[in-house]
Amino acid sequence: MKIYLVGFMGCGKTTVGRELARRLERPFFDLDELVEAAEEMTIKELFGEKGEPYFRKRERDILRSTRYLAAGVVATGGGTFTFDDNIQFIQAEGLSIYLSVPFNVLINRIGDKAAERPLFRDDLATHELYTSRLRYYKMSDLALDIRESETIPEVVERILLELPKATFDSPLGGNRWRNS
Ligand code: S3P
Repeated sequence: MKIYLVGFMGCGKTTVGRELARRLERPFFDLDELVEAAEEMTIKELFGEKGEPYFRKRERDILRSTRYLAAGVVATGGGTFTFDDNIQFIQAEGLSIYLSVPFNVLINRIGDKAAERPLFRDDLATHELYTSRLRYYKMSDLALDIRESETIPEVVERILLELPKATFDSPLGGNRWRNS
């Protein structure tokens, strides 16, 4: 079973993913962390020194390497699931779950960590980026509307309740889950 968490910056892909993997007793992977480890620099440094196209290439390569995982939970970056080839890859490999969080909540959450995120500029530009990406995020297998007050364990509990249904409803049926 491979699960890919998708959604905008600050929606909780990493924290939810880590807890979900713990509950499912499966390994957890964070694409941004894997890119940082492979490049031996932070995402911010990578954008600054080599530019966004290079980052996207490395993000793509490392996403493709998850093909060799039998099972696990993968937290993607906010831009990963906005490129057609990445979307197709994820759709073929596992179950995608979109953590849908209202924009005002995201802005509050990102707060002073905004400096670490090269694509977080001012609120207006970030809002434009957010709205332009919704149509991609909605292509995921399962969308979860997350309330501001909801805790990480509560979100994970909800995902665990939705999983059997999401598996059954997915276009490829249970095929993508057969590796356990
Ligand atoms: C990006 C989101 C970041 C990181 C990079 C680009 C994006 O990940 O991959 O800064 O395009 O939205 P998070 O969503 O984990 O912040």
